[in-house]
Amino acid sequence: MSKEVSIELDEKRVKVPEGITVKRALEINGYTVTNYPEKGSLFAPCDVGGCWSCAVEVNNELKPACITPVTKGLRVSTELPQDCPPKRIIHGFGGHTVGGVGTPYWLKGRHGYIEVACFASGCNLRCPQCQNWETTYSGQGKPLTPRKAAELMTASRKKFRVDRMAISGGESTLNRRWLVEYVTELKRLNPDPNARIHVDTNTTILTKDYIDKLVESGMTDIGPDLKGYYPETFMRITGIENKAMAERYLNTAWDAVRYLIERYKDRVFTGVGIPYNKELIPPQEIELIGERLYEIDPEIQVCVLDYRPEFKRLDLVKPNYYEMVKIHKILTNKGLETVMCQTEYGHIGPEI
Ligand code: SF4
Ligand code: FES
Repeated sequence: MSKEVSIELDEKRVKVPEGITVKRALEINGYTVTNYPEKGSLFAPCDVGGCWSCAVEVNNELKPACITPVTKGLRVSTELPQDCPPKRIIHGFGGHTVGGVGTPYWLKGRHGYIEVACFASGCNLRCPQCQNWETTYSGQGKPLTPRKAAELMTASRKKFRVDRMAISGGESTLNRRWLVEYVTELKRLNPDPNARIHVDTNTTILTKDYIDKLVESGMTDIGPDLKGYYPETFMRITGIENKAMAERYLNTAWDAVRYLIERYKDRVFTGVGIPYNKELIPPQEIELIGERLYEIDPEIQVCVLDYRPEFKRLDLVKPNYYEMVKIHKILTNKGLETVMCQTEYGHIGPEI
C-alpha cells in the first residue's frame, strides 16, 4: 500500500495515495474523466501528456493531469481562469514536399515544397500501425500557446515560401480551445487571400459545432480520415476496444464529412483519407466506403493510403502497386471522380 498524502482539489482537502496522477486523484474523488468531450467532465483523451486537454492548475501552474504525479500538499484547481492561454506540445515545424490527404491533388505532383506543417502530440486512438507514433506518444517538450505556435508557423511559411500551413499529429483536434485559438492567430498573422490553413484529423471528435468554429476562425482546408465502414474494422485499425466508443467515433467522422460537404463545399477544401492494407480492411469494404462517399459527393477528393509495417504491426506487408491500382479502380468504378492512391512509386490519381 502506498502512503496517503493530503492535497487540495478545488479547495477541498482530501487524502489520496502518493504518486498517483492528478487525473486518478480527481477520478477517485468523484470527478468524471472521459475520452470523448462531454460538458462538465475532464477530457483526457491521450493519457501521455501530449494534448494538454486535461490541463488543470497545479500550484498555480498549468499542468496535464494525466501525467502529473500527486505529492503532499498539492493544490489543484480544475476551473481555469479565462485569461490563462491553453497550451499543447507541438513538434516539427518545417517544409513538406508531399502534403497530406487534405492537400488538393493538383498540388501533389509539384516539385519542391508545397506546404509547411507542424505535428501535435497526443492522440485519442491507439492504431497499432501508427505511422507517426513518436509524435503521437510524446509528452516531452515545452508546450506552446496558440500564439507562439502560430508565430512559428508563420515564420516557417516565410522561410519555405509557401501558402499552405498544415497542422497534423497525433490528433490535432483534441484540445479544442487550443486549436480554435491557433487557427484564429494564424489567420490574424496571415491575412492575405493566398494563405491556406489546413487541418489534418482522424475526425473522431469533430462535431458540427466544432467544424463551424474552425471555419469561422479561418480554416480553409481539411483532411478528415475515415478509418472504416464497419465499427469492427475501425476497432482493428485504431486499437479502440470499446465497441460503443468505436461506433461513436466512426459515426462522428462520417457525419463530419457529410456536414463539411453539405455546408462548406464552397468555402473549405475537403480531402478524405482512407487506409488500405488487406490485413486491416478488405477491398469489399473499400467498395462500401466508395458507395457512401459517392452518395455524399461524387467530386469529393479521396486519398487512399497504403498502410505499411510500422510501430507494433511490423508484421504487415505494404500493399504492392497492383493492389493499389485495384483499389483505385474499385473507387473510380463507384463513380468517384477524384481518387488518389498512394503507392510505392508515388501517387496514382486524377490527371492534372
Ligand atoms: S489516428 Fe493517426 S496519429 Fe492517432 S494513433 Fe491512429 S495513426 Fe496514429
Ligand atoms: S490527456 Fe492528458 S495530455 Fe492528453
